[in-house]
Amino acid sequence: MGKNYKIAVLPGDGTGPEVIAEAVKVLDAAGKKFGFTTDRTTYNWGGENYLATGEILPDDAVAKLKANDAVLLGAIGHPKVKPGVLEKGILLRLRFELDQYINLRPVKLFPGVETPLANKRPEDIDYVVVRENTGGVYTGMGGSVQTGTPDEVACQNWVYTRKQVDRCLKFAFELAMKRHGKDNPWRGLSDDDRKAGYTSQLTLVGKTNVLTYVCGLWERAFHEMAPKYPQVKTAYCHVDATTMWMVKNPEWFDVIVTENLMGDIITDLGAMTQGGMGIAAGGNLNPEGVSMFEPIGGSAPKYTGLGVINPLAAIGAAAMMLDYLGEHAAAAAIEKAIATATGTKLKSMAAGKMGYSTSEVGDLIVSLL
Ligand code: IPM
Ligand code: MN
Repeated sequence: MGKNYKIAVLPGDGTGPEVIAEAVKVLDAAGKKFGFTTDRTTYNWGGENYLATGEILPDDAVAKLKANDAVLLGAIGHPKVKPGVLEKGILLRLRFELDQYINLRPVKLFPGVETPLANKRPEDIDYVVVRENTGGVYTGMGGSVQTGTPDEVACQNWVYTRKQVDRCLKFAFELAMKRHGKDNPWRGLSDDDRKAGYTSQLTLVGKTNVLTYVCGLWERAFHEMAPKYPQVKTAYCHVDATTMWMVKNPEWFDVIVTENLMGDIITDLGAMTQGGMGIAAGGNLNPEGVSMFEPIGGSAPKYTGLGVINPLAAIGAAAMMLDYLGEHAAAAAIEKAIATATGTKLKSMAAGKMGYSTSEVGDLIVSLL
């Protein structure tokens, strides 16, 4: 008997339910093929539910999710709800209360996918961003006085504890070790690096030239931890320069680790370079608890119900979830099916231009498994 996993499904708003339906279809097919089952509970939290009931999240929401092995999330955001309410009240609250301190965002160009970066191929765009996911300005400390007057003063504190920094860095170093074993050294390394025994590279992204206190903490902690991982070559890049290299030389990157807001910003850039929101997936991870996987794109309200939205990001998120749960073969098979679909079938990643409907893309992935 294969394993059974308890999955909480949060389809959310807009096109969220449509893409999640396809992800679930693929989960079922992968389960049949690879010998596992999923026990799913769906929660309809989101903008629609908030407008109908006035409740953003029930009090026991976090407790309910904690009873699962993982969470699969569609999209949160509703045009009739003031920006910030659902983002803070659902997405950020869950990330915080489930202590999902890592946001793992692979930037991977699948074959056949159009990238806005001229002359870059799939082998050039294949790195992972480890975004710290609960600290920094997202901590929510700050305030304003004389609010609404010409003398208003506002501040939003950028805070990190050493523990938060260390646990994030540890995850990133370990990922770098795992991503490339001895037999698979990474291309970003020079021959000299390889001779020196390095197998992978970890780049810390910050702004140590200006934000000296917080980035100084990250940098010190990074260099103190590095000797524990002698195979990982360390590098440092200012965040502004990072956006240049992500466009000009994405092949230089292997694993990037960075703080929350910088990670938020550079991963949107990364998502565009890998073909846009239709294909970019991510995971909010608590390595000691319950993790939540989601397509990075939003709820895309204008496409709701039309059957034109691209479900590959959600399907990719489901694959990440399976990999995280230990179903590595199933995850790899789904990734391969996505690559075949993008390489030989789909005309475009954009909504309405795929040459397939949303559910046909789900069926296609199932048939390619
Ligand atoms: C993301 C989003 C969220 C964030 C918003 C919706 C709160 O942009 O997942 O990247 O800023 O983290
Ligand atoms: Mn974002």
